[in-house]
Amino acid sequence: MRITEIKPGIHYVGVNDRVKTRFEALWSLPFGVSYNSYLVADEKVALIDTVEEGFGSRFFHNIHEAIGDRKIDYLVVNHMEPDHSSSISALKRLYPEIKIVGNAKTLQMIGGYYGIEADTVEIREGESLSLGNRTLTFYMAPMVHWPETMVTYCPEQKTLFTGDAFGTFGALDGGILDRQLELGHFWDEMIRYYACIVGKYGVPVQKALQKIRTLEIETICSTHGPVWEEEKERVIALYDRLSRYQGEPGAVIAYGSMYGNTEQMAEHIARNLAERGVRPIRMYNLSSADPSVVLRDVFKYDTLVVGSPTYNGDLFPEVEALLRKIEARGIPQRTFAAFGSFTWASAAVKHLREFAEKLKWTMCCEPLEMKQGFDGRYDDACDRLADAVAARWSDCGTGN
Ligand code: FEO
Repeated sequence: MRITEIKPGIHYVGVNDRVKTRFEALWSLPFGVSYNSYLVADEKVALIDTVEEGFGSRFFHNIHEAIGDRKIDYLVVNHMEPDHSSSISALKRLYPEIKIVGNAKTLQMIGGYYGIEADTVEIREGESLSLGNRTLTFYMAPMVHWPETMVTYCPEQKTLFTGDAFGTFGALDGGILDRQLELGHFWDEMIRYYACIVGKYGVPVQKALQKIRTLEIETICSTHGPVWEEEKERVIALYDRLSRYQGEPGAVIAYGSMYGNTEQMAEHIARNLAERGVRPIRMYNLSSADPSVVLRDVFKYDTLVVGSPTYNGDLFPEVEALLRKIEARGIPQRTFAAFGSFTWASAAVKHLREFAEKLKWTMCCEPLEMKQGFDGRYDDACDRLADAVAARWSDCGTGN
């Protein structure tokens, strides 16, 4: 059996993209990304999702390698975002008899994106399609992370095709199943993918997880990243934690600094936190840090300390950009502290406080504010801020 036949009759026909530098034209791709597609070959043949259209010729080659000249009876569309649907028009030309299976929202979008209205099969929650010895059953998972998203379950093979859910950034370096891959970087890439792409939709993800838990699952086939078998419980648990917005013990210190004075506050606070046993500490100068990595760690860890100089009577722009990303994702609470600086008129600290109030976050101490340059005058204040963060750390039972 070829490595691409991930289970009897289920073929991986996806592709790797190591060319694109930004997913959704926004998020960096240091390890590339895969667009996963699967063929279920029975008496009838179903293709589940397609790939980004620039990889169409590789995709069609993979399909031919799996099933030769057999026709494809159905295309099941779990998710309409163009990284998975933009090969549909070419697929229709190569397999003109194919029927497109989707829910009402999916079929509307297929009309809107690709002008395809005919030869469609509209399915509803819990309905099934027989392929012969195998069945595909459809469950809606709206807003994970588009309104039409759904998952497809093959009970005979205990396999769940999940669309973007349980996806990660990172191309598949040879292997396809988790046990065939070196998984090291995929765990942080899964959090980064979740934070950037799905992070706003914690409640819909929780609803989808409730449905998924009723199914007997051996294999999770996402549209991005490894196929999960050995690590499926860990993957489900990670999605559960992320969608509850629960951070693990650890502190992110994210700051802007034009001339290094606010940065020295950050360094001082970090050193004091380390002395008080806070671990791990991740520091990001927001002028140079990858925003997706910072956002990843805001999701990953339970403590956030933000620093900003006053800039044009406002927050430093890169700090503002991070706060807007956090706000857009509705992260409900982090242990939060703030510090800032100004030269002639204070503003940054006021805006950091307003951010916390808007998100209904409790600040663990008064914001620390510095006028002009950093020197020993602020040592005690940095100590007190670190004390307050470390005390919260101990209260939560996360200290060493
Ligand atoms: Fe991978 Fe939401 O598309």
